[in-house]
Amino acid sequence: MSDDLLSRIAAVVGPNGLLTAASDMAPYLEDERGLYHGRARAVVRPGSTIEVAEIVRLCHERGVGIVPQGGNTGLCGAATPDATGAQILLSLSRMNTLRAIDPVNFTMTVDAGVVLQTVQETADKAGCLFPLNFGAQGSCLIGGAIATNAGGAGVLRYGNTRDLVMGLEVVLPDGRIWDGMRALRKDNTGYDLKQLFIGSEGTLGIITGAVLKLFPKPKDIATAFCALSNLDSALSLLARARAATGDLVSAFELMPRIVLEITTTHVSGAADPFGEPYPWYVLIELSSSCSDGTLQNSLEDFLGAAMEDGEVVDAVLASSSEQRRGLWRIREGIPEAQSREGGSIKHDISVPISSVPAFIRRATSAAEAALPGVRVLAYGHLGDGNLHFNLSQPIGADKEAYLAEYVRLNHVVHDIVVDMQGSISAEHGIGQLKKEELAHYKAPLELDLMRRIKDVFDPNGMMNPGKVLL
Ligand code: FAD
Ligand code: MLT
Ligand code: ZN
Repeated sequence: MSDDLLSRIAAVVGPNGLLTAASDMAPYLEDERGLYHGRARAVVRPGSTIEVAEIVRLCHERGVGIVPQGGNTGLCGAATPDATGAQILLSLSRMNTLRAIDPVNFTMTVDAGVVLQTVQETADKAGCLFPLNFGAQGSCLIGGAIATNAGGAGVLRYGNTRDLVMGLEVVLPDGRIWDGMRALRKDNTGYDLKQLFIGSEGTLGIITGAVLKLFPKPKDIATAFCALSNLDSALSLLARARAATGDLVSAFELMPRIVLEITTTHVSGAADPFGEPYPWYVLIELSSSCSDGTLQNSLEDFLGAAMEDGEVVDAVLASSSEQRRGLWRIREGIPEAQSREGGSIKHDISVPISSVPAFIRRATSAAEAALPGVRVLAYGHLGDGNLHFNLSQPIGADKEAYLAEYVRLNHVVHDIVVDMQGSISAEHGIGQLKKEELAHYKAPLELDLMRRIKDVFDPNGMMNPGKVLL
């Protein structure tokens, strides 16, 4: 890359928008999990869509690869450049304008660099709900969540990010700007182009703006942490909760005993709600936009019935928002607690909801046989059939030696996932971490179609090179 490019970029973004010193660039060049360390010629932080387009055009002319980055919280190394130092890292973090909110149309229009939690809080102030929520919401950017089609705890009620985006503005790999910022609930004018960019992990273009779908704000919320007699009870409890509440379940998160052990050890504010240990737990949340305050009673009623039938052994119902936050702290603290337990080999999988218990039993036996002493943390979004089947290193094992088993253990688990008609990446994407797994498990026809789509948008392979597709 010539210095001429950097001086042209500096002229576009100004002195605050271009970082070249190693110490300034360092936080952008390592991924959230510390698995990937990249290099870049420069970190560029444009302040507007026009500036993004100008930078992309300059890089396009010179054949320079671009790695888009949001909050750098992704879990697959998708926002980390390679080791060549030839690529530009383009951070959206300065593009953080809330462009408009329309509570009558139930939409919000934002720059891609707005923090997800700011989107949620802005919706809340306007009497609405933006339902996307997960542990990284305080630091991930809405553009990054869109580019990974993030899921989280509200999917069973409101859908994935894909279901929450109505319009997009995208800078294409040649620098042209696609204005797809429609705020329409119905639009059947041919192919739905925005859906190609959602979940494309920066490989087809740079998302600079979005029109987001809002919902009525919940006025009544009821939360319970339940101890279960056995794993299969989780499924009957989910069905019972949906039927008993007129489908008002907005979270249904499964956790095994080990989660309580590690979160209460490592996460401040996480405490075991019960006096004795149980094998499985479920965090249930109900929410309604009616303010008649009946949810707590419904929750008590169906949990009472579930206890009589032996599905639930014990339950704690949150009686204040502080208590509710404490219960969520256990669930949201899992990634932090697990990282403190040493090496973690993650599997972000989905199977049909009805197959979850069978999957957990099969995959647990297989993982324990493949690596004696491995600690299985099978937890997550049961209401979506999405489990984080994460394997923590055996106690006392060497972290590097354990992580060297990553691919072997991935195959042990993913073979079972595929055999049970599941997905090897339910919500975190592919990035660099799973691109070999994708090539191994995805049907050749689907891979061929994906490559052809990539070629249409980015024939020179300049947009997030080396990610998703081999
Ligand atoms: P980054 O990490 O910066 O980037 C992610 C990808 O998007 C990269 O490929 C990047 O190139 C691309 N990208 C970023 N911005 C743009 C843009 N504007 N245009 C084009 N491409 C772009 N995910 C879930 O789905 N569900 C969960 O429950 C969940 N929980 C999490 C909990 C924790 C504690 C953490 C750390 C992560 C969790 N995640 C979860 C992972 C989730 O994928 C990311 O947190 C989030 O979606 C990524 O947003 P980001 O802004 O940090 O993107
Ligand atoms: C979660 O739901 O906690 C994250 O998606 C899982 C993870 O960090 O593996
Ligand atoms: Zn998750």
